[in-house]
Amino acid sequence: SNEKRKLIAGNWKMNGLLQEANDFMDAFGGNPAPDVVEVALMPPFTLLHSMSARLAEMGVALGAQNVYYEDKGAFTGSICPIMLRDAGCHYVILGHSERRSIIGESNAQIRSKMNAAWLHGLEPILCIGETLEQREKGVTNHVLAEQLAILKGAPKSAPLTVAYEPVWAIGTGVTASPEQVVETHAFVHAELQRLGHDCRVLYGGSVNPGNAEELMACPGVEGALVGGASLKAESFMEIVQAAA
Ligand code: G3P
Repeated sequence: SNEKRKLIAGNWKMNGLLQEANDFMDAFGGNPAPDVVEVALMPPFTLLHSMSARLAEMGVALGAQNVYYEDKGAFTGSICPIMLRDAGCHYVILGHSERRSIIGESNAQIRSKMNAAWLHGLEPILCIGETLEQREKGVTNHVLAEQLAILKGAPKSAPLTVAYEPVWAIGTGVTASPEQVVETHAFVHAELQRLGHDCRVLYGGSVNPGNAEELMACPGVEGALVGGASLKAESFMEIVQAAA
């Protein structure tokens, strides 16, 4: 699994207006990403269409932060996979801890969304991770296995990336230690193997230009899902370089 091309993905969460998106692309455009790293951005829905063409020119893949599991119809406020494809998306983030905890998304709902994404050619980035309480209780692996269990019965050939994001490291400035990252990624890879999915596993949680190189060098880490530090083109570019 060390031969997989690394993915550095920027999750903008609920941030980004049109002007900021254009400024970001102006700054990012001058520095082509190294070939050895794949780069992707997940802006809010409102920016997908307007960023799509320029990001494609720069070789940056586009993704969304969520999707609904129905194809079309009377689902006010929802966005379906076909709409994301129409906007140029390749990726969709699913199961982010902010959606699990704030919106109350369940593993069953996440699996439905995953099926819908696969049906329409999107690659899910499935986010998993334990809370601080769970880590301290020593049930991290149990929690991660439960979150990964939604892959049971999924087509083995379906495109998939997993992101391990310890909840206590998201937006806190605290990252998991390299030892914790190596150990947990090894468990996630083993569990994925058991389920028949030999996919990339990204690390997420307070990745920044200062810690990216050390985290990306950990065995079993095949990229990063970056939140706050992906909002500024300069810091995002530094993280991309650190992964090369
Ligand atoms: O999805 C990325 C994420 O949750 C990490 O956010 O701001 O800690 O990099 P941040």
